[in-house]
Amino acid sequence: MKKVAIDENAYPYPMPMVVLGVMMEERPNFMAVGWVTRVNFQPPMIAVALGKRHYTNGGIHAAGAFSVNVPGTDLLAKVDYCGIVSGRDKDKSALFTVTRGEKTGAPLIEECPLAMECRLRASVFRSTTNLRLQSISTSWASTISKAATHQATRRKCSSFLRRQNWA
Ligand SMILES: Cc1cc2nc3c(=O)[nH]c(=O)nc-3n(C[C@H](O)[C@H](O)[C@H](O)COP(=O)(O)O)c2cc1C
Repeated sequence: MKKVAIDENAYPYPMPMVVLGVMMEERPNFMAVGWVTRVNFQPPMIAVALGKRHYTNGGIHAAGAFSVNVPGTDLLAKVDYCGIVSGRDKDKSALFTVTRGEKTGAPLIEECPLAMECRLRASVFRSTTNLRLQSISTSWASTISKAATHQATRRKCSSFLRRQNWA
């Protein structure tokens, strides 16, 4: 395939989309995140890159725990809202049905087919972004049989992919 040089500021596409949930004092706050990846197999670890100034970023540091929720396409409008409105300005706590993670107390989104409760383990500080590395304490999947978990979850989460830069 013939290539042309483009801007150096390129991204691997498509990007998965998740919603981060964190307790900000007594209230859950939610933020849309496309910069998310697994970083270790055992112990299971996942990383997110968060803009330093985001309300959620400070909350994660304070709480030490948060959730990574994988939405289905039925939640598109709400996930988009979480990505354009700050918890500093608007209360996003009632957008979803929330349960609290058994191990961390992180707010899990019931409507998402997959929700992982995580503990913050390390942070890498860049000029505009904090890379937050965390271990997954428990993953909660909405499915009837454990054997079918991965397949069913993949199907329910399917096609919610970010195709363009969010910046
Ligand atoms: C599709 C999409 C993906 C996003 N991905 C990220 C991301 O990976 N990292 C980040 O810092 N902000 C990302 N954002 C921006 C934040 O979600 C947005 O600034 C949000 O309002 C922050 O909420 P908060 O201030 O309540 O923390 C994304 C926004 C959208 C719409």
